[in-house]
Amino acid sequence: MESDYTVGIITASDKGFKGERIDESVQVIREILEGRSYQVARYTLLPDNEKKIYQELVYMSDELNLNLILTTGGTGFSKRDVTPEATRRVVERLAPGISEAIRAYSLKITPRAMLSRAIAGIRNETLIINLPGSPKAVRESLEYIIDTLDHGLEILL
Ligand code: MTE
Repeated sequence: MESDYTVGIITASDKGFKGERIDESVQVIREILEGRSYQVARYTLLPDNEKKIYQELVYMSDELNLNLILTTGGTGFSKRDVTPEATRRVVERLAPGISEAIRAYSLKITPRAMLSRAIAGIRNETLIINLPGSPKAVRESLEYIIDTLDHGLEILL
């Protein structure tokens, strides 16, 4: 479909990268996007490495010109959690309302939602959104925002 938005998915997980854990979170993302006007154009599984995540975000936005990038993982308090830092360096404009909405909704499910440092922002015409790492958290977060993203992406283009 030509009206589809192109999506990049980045999973940041040391364990996933080493093959010690199956990346179930990307499966949840794919499932939620399926049947909606989104086409997954690229998926990358990376270790929790700020430089690697940064470079992949730049590649997906500047080279591939993807409409949306969803990251999962690396938003917590571990010293290895660096996804928000990589994202902060890439985005030109913050979109705090998206992260606020995710946390506000998620706090109704678990107080641990306050422990996610996830951010969202825009680089040129690419919207980048951090999601937490667990498949459960990914589902809760993405299902809540997905229907509103269409309108944001429509304005961004
Ligand atoms: N958000 C939702 N909706 N549901 C959850 O279960 N888990 C939290 C939080 N956000 C959670 C959630 C937990 S336990 C942590 S530690 C943070 O996300 C950060 O997760 P991450 O380090 O895997 O990114």
